[in-house]
Amino acid sequence: MYTKELLAAVAAFGLFSGAAAVGCKDDPVKINNQADADQISKCKSVDNDIVLDANAGPAIDLGGSLTEIKGSLIVKSNGYIQTLQSSSLQTIGNIFQLQNVTTLNSVIFPKLGEVGSIDWSTLPRLPEPTFGTPGITKANSVSIQDTFIQNLNGINVQEVTDLMLANNRRLTKFSSSIKTLSNVMVISANGLDLDVEVPNLQWIANMTIANVSSFSIPSLHTVNGSMRFDSNYFDSFIAPNLTEFQDGDLSFVSNPKLTNISFPQLEKIGGGMTIANNTQLEKIDGFNSLKEIGGAIIMRGSFDSIDLPALEDVVGTAQFISTGNITESCDKLNEYSGGVIQGKITRCKGGDAGANNDTSGAPSGDDGDNGSGNDNDHSAASLAGVSMPTLVSLASVAGLVAMFL
Ligand SMILES: *[C@@H]1O[C@H](CO)[C@@H](O)[C@H](O)[C@H]1NC(C)=O
Ligand SMILES: *[C@@H]1O[C@H](CO)[C@@H](O)[C@H](O)[C@H]1NC(C)=O
Ligand SMILES: *[C@@H]1O[C@H](CO)[C@@H](O)[C@H](O)[C@H]1NC(C)=O
Ligand SMILES: *[C@@H]1O[C@H](CO)[C@@H](O)[C@H](O)[C@H]1NC(C)=O
Ligand SMILES: *[C@@H]1O[C@H](CO)[C@@H](O)[C@H](O)[C@H]1NC(C)=O
Ligand SMILES: *[C@@H]1O[C@H](CO)[C@@H](O)[C@H](O)[C@H]1NC(C)=O
Ligand SMILES: *[C@@H]1O[C@H](CO)[C@@H](O)[C@H](O)[C@H]1NC(C)=O
Ligand SMILES: *[C@@H]1O[C@H](CO)[C@@H](O)[C@H](O)[C@H]1NC(C)=O
Ligand SMILES: *[C@@H]1O[C@H](CO)[C@@H](O)[C@H](O)[C@H]1NC(C)=O
Ligand SMILES: *[C@@H]1O[C@H](CO)[C@@H](O)[C@H](O)[C@H]1NC(C)=O
Repeated sequence: MYTKELLAAVAAFGLFSGAAAVGCKDDPVKINNQADADQISKCKSVDNDIVLDANAGPAIDLGGSLTEIKGSLIVKSNGYIQTLQSSSLQTIGNIFQLQNVTTLNSVIFPKLGEVGSIDWSTLPRLPEPTFGTPGITKANSVSIQDTFIQNLNGINVQEVTDLMLANNRRLTKFSSSIKTLSNVMVISANGLDLDVEVPNLQWIANMTIANVSSFSIPSLHTVNGSMRFDSNYFDSFIAPNLTEFQDGDLSFVSNPKLTNISFPQLEKIGGGMTIANNTQLEKIDGFNSLKEIGGAIIMRGSFDSIDLPALEDVVGTAQFISTGNITESCDKLNEYSGGVIQGKITRCKGGDAGANNDTSGAPSGDDGDNGSGNDNDHSAASLAGVSMPTLVSLASVAGLVAMFL
């Protein structure tokens, strides 16, 4: 009788490929059990995907000679595997995918340094993946959703296109060495005390941050697109080094503890600016360098003063509405209407009990509402004024949120 090893060796030479054996060149390499994994562990490199069967487990070890998978490593809808490991694997060229693997509680890859992308979701038993030091230093995108993960220390990527961390209810700290992020970062609905620190982040295309308790971006210098903070629990927010939003929006909506927003160096917001329903925010005084806004301004809340001392050019409209008394601020701001604020101030009014009821965002660009009258139907006006890119981005945010549910 042929041994499995012999069959695998034959298959590896491309002379034979039978259902009974797996070989380095299979496409894809299908792993049904540890015997298959033992065969594949003898390959130095696998060109195609490695796919674990839904019943592979309870432990699969790909350690041995295997250092590289040029395709993906895929485990999907497997309710049996508990441990997945490899002491030798260094690179996964495409996706490291773990999806709906409900019994997995241990992922151990001490040599893994580079992956095309990480796509993990529905891993309700996985507390902490084990990587080496420095761990994963290269990945184009990282998406980790709906897991039991408490700690992501082994993910030390510096340049990524996308980062998505959502519904990881145990995650209470995310500290990352990311320097640049070229598409979008979404952090939402993780542990209720999630502290996020991204000390080396220099520029980021877009970010959407919700439900975090602290957020630190000391080096962030440029946002190419938009930055949005919804329903967070921090009491103060500072972006000490941020100078511009090249062409997107800045938005803070419904952050119930926020008392201080500070952007001391910010000079330009390419799109619109929205500050709404942050009910503890008494003063808007953290924008002392802000000169230029490419879209509209919406500020609604419970503040009693608004200070935008450096403002030189706002392309869209502006509205300032508060439950508090902003008469003095309005007197000053109204001098900007029609000049500095090209689209005019459509409304500046205090003592409005409903000021926090409307959380719709400011239009991103120069749009239909050019201040031609309707200053009372504020919610309709601000929605009617939403430009296409904003609708698209609001729609995509809604899509993302739906994905999390
Ligand atoms: C998740 O995996 C289980 C098997 O463990 C399967 O029965 C179930 O249909 C999968 N769910 C989804 C949404 O794929
Ligand atoms: C974002 O802006 C920075 C600084 O201007 C620039 O170096 C980077 O290439 C931009 N990134 C994208 C994706 O546009
Ligand atoms: C998390 O943030 C979302 C907004 O993105 C909000 O709808 C939701 O209520 C928040 N959840 C909690 C528990 O604060
Ligand atoms: C702030 O940004 C500048 C680039 O203009 C950079 O040289 C400096 O190191 C940054 N500061 C911090 C604290 O990262
Ligand atoms: C991210 O920002 C860029 C601008 O730098 C924009 O072109 C792109 O559409 C944005 N992506 C998303 C998903 O919002
Ligand atoms: C807000 O934060 C900034 C930066 O930390 C600080 O300089 C300022 O004094 C704070 N303002 C208030 C009202 O606490
Ligand atoms: C609002 O404040 C102004 C001066 O700061 C004062 O004259 C006015 O009476 C106040 N309005 C209300 C409704 O308290
Ligand atoms: C604002 O919303 C609250 C709660 O939904 C409601 O009770 C109140 O009547 C609203 N106020 C206005 C002026 O619309
Ligand atoms: C305003 O914020 C509070 C607290 O975060 C939230 O409960 C409420 O639903 C928000 N109002 C609107 C209109 O979103
Ligand atoms: C304002 O917009 C309306 C239609 O959107 C247009 O007819 C009108 O000329 C505009 N006014 C100014 C001052 O641009």
